[in-house]
Amino acid sequence: MRKNIVVGNWKMNLKREDALVLVSEVLSQLPKDKDTEVVFAPCFLYLYKIAKMCNDFERVKVSAQNCSKEGKGAFTGEVSAEMVTTSNGDYVIIGHSERREYFKETNADLAEKVNKVLANNLKVIFCCGERLTQRENGTHFNWIKQQLSEGIFHLDSNDFTNIVIAYEPIWAIGTGITATSEQAQEMHGFIRSILNEKYGSKIAENSSILYGGSCNPGNAKELFIQKDIDGGLIGGASLKSDDFLAIINSF
Ligand code: PGA
Repeated sequence: MRKNIVVGNWKMNLKREDALVLVSEVLSQLPKDKDTEVVFAPCFLYLYKIAKMCNDFERVKVSAQNCSKEGKGAFTGEVSAEMVTTSNGDYVIIGHSERREYFKETNADLAEKVNKVLANNLKVIFCCGERLTQRENGTHFNWIKQQLSEGIFHLDSNDFTNIVIAYEPIWAIGTGITATSEQAQEMHGFIRSILNEKYGSKIAENSSILYGGSCNPGNAKELFIQKDIDGGLIGGASLKSDDFLAIINSF
C-alpha cells in the first residue's frame, strides 16, 4: 500500500546532544491521528541511539544517508549495509545528488549499493533529480528515466515493496527555490508512468514517491496535496523540530 512518508535528511549537521533533543521533541509532539511514516536520517554515529529512542513508535523509522557498495573488508572509513542493519536502521538513502556530485557516485555504483541495501533487509530511498540546465533544455524527463533505469530497474517487482523514490531537482536543493507544485506533480506523474510501463500498475500505484528540494512548512501542504506526491525528503527544514513537525502535519 502506498504510504505517506516524511524523511528528515540531516546531512552533516547537528551535534550529538542537539540531535537527541530534536528527536525527543519530534517524538513527543507527533500527531496521533495520522498514519504518515516519519523517518530520521542522522549521521551513522547516532543511528543506533536514535533507533532505540524511536523503538516504541511504530510509524517512526531511521535511515542512513549512504552506505558502501562493498560488503566488508579493507575499505577504511566506509560503512556497510550490514552495519546499518545491525545498528537497527530501517532505510538507506541512495543516490542523493550531493553523493553523486561530490563523491562521484555513478548510476552503476548506486545499483550495487541498492543491491547491498536490499540484501541486508533494509529499504532504499532512491534519489533522482535534474540540473537546472537539463530542465531548461528539456532533457529532464529522459535524465530521470535514465537515473531510474540504471539505478533500480534491474530489480524484480518483488523488491519494489522496499523501494521509495525521491525526486529532488538539484536546482531546488538548499536554494530556497522550490519546484512549483505543478512542476513537481508533472515529474512525479512521469515517474509513476514509467514504473507502470516497467512493472505494471500495482507496483506503480503502491510506490511512494517523495519530493525534495526546499520543502518547508510554507509549501509542504500544496506539494503533498498533489496526487502523485506521497511526502517529502526534507533537508534544512528537518533540523528544527517545529518546522519538521509542521511539515509532518501538512498531510
Ligand atoms: P533541502 O534539502 O530541503 O535543504 O533543500 C533536501 C535534500 O537534499 O534532501
